[in-house]
Amino acid sequence: MTSAAGAASVGLVWAQARGGVIGAGGGMPWHVPEDLAHFKSVTMGAPVVMGRKTWESFPDRFRPLPGRRNIVVTRNGEWSAAGAERAASLDAALALAAEGHPDTIWVIGGGELFRDAIAAADALEVTELDLDVDGDAFAPSTSGWDAAATDPAEGWHVSRAGIPYRFVTYRRAPGSGGAARAIA
Ligand SMILES: NC(=O)c1ccc[n+]([C@@H]2O[C@H](COP(=O)([O-])OP(=O)(O)OC[C@H]3O[C@@H](n4cnc5c(N)ncnc54)[C@H](OP(=O)(O)O)[C@@H]3O)[C@@H](O)[C@H]2O)c1
Repeated sequence: MTSAAGAASVGLVWAQARGGVIGAGGGMPWHVPEDLAHFKSVTMGAPVVMGRKTWESFPDRFRPLPGRRNIVVTRNGEWSAAGAERAASLDAALALAAEGHPDTIWVIGGGELFRDAIAAADALEVTELDLDVDGDAFAPSTSGWDAAATDPAEGWHVSRAGIPYRFVTYRRAPGSGGAARAIA
């Protein structure tokens, strides 16, 4: 995928409980510190693109996410927040993020933005939690994607919070087509 600013790829990163739950009541209904460390290591140094509700879900002390360019997608032209750059659409956000950044741009949620962004994605980094929990925000479908690697290769890690989890890297399945959107 290329742009005037150079080549960039788009990754989506999320954590999901059984049934694809990623959020509830404007937050994440679990605390898995190992997943937060994984998220930090995946995204550090890269631009992160998020929906306005995901930005608002972060406690003040965690926003902007340090060491990363924070780009927030909102249809509200009046919206602003210290440390965030506003974009009016996903395409505008990806174009902004690609400026001077030839590597991976990470879309970090939430459910609404993921539904749009998965068409533009080249890779998915998913933390699966072996947990039943009610939610109102959901991961996008991974139909047309293959699990290329899992950590651990079999079974689960167990969080110090007691929740089993594993990291799954998805690539597009052969023949399923490439990312449907160019960063312009
Ligand atoms: N488990 C995880 O990994 C993870 C990751 C991130 C978030 N979450 C959870 O997910 C939930 C938030 O997700 P959500 O689906 O409710 O909201 P969201 O996707 O974070 O934000 C939705 C808002 O973003 C803007 N937006 C989204 N798509 C847009 C588009 N294509 N063009 C322009 N603006 C767009 C709109 O803002 P305006 O209304 O301002 O126009 C929309 O109301 C929270 O519970 C959060 O904790 C979980």
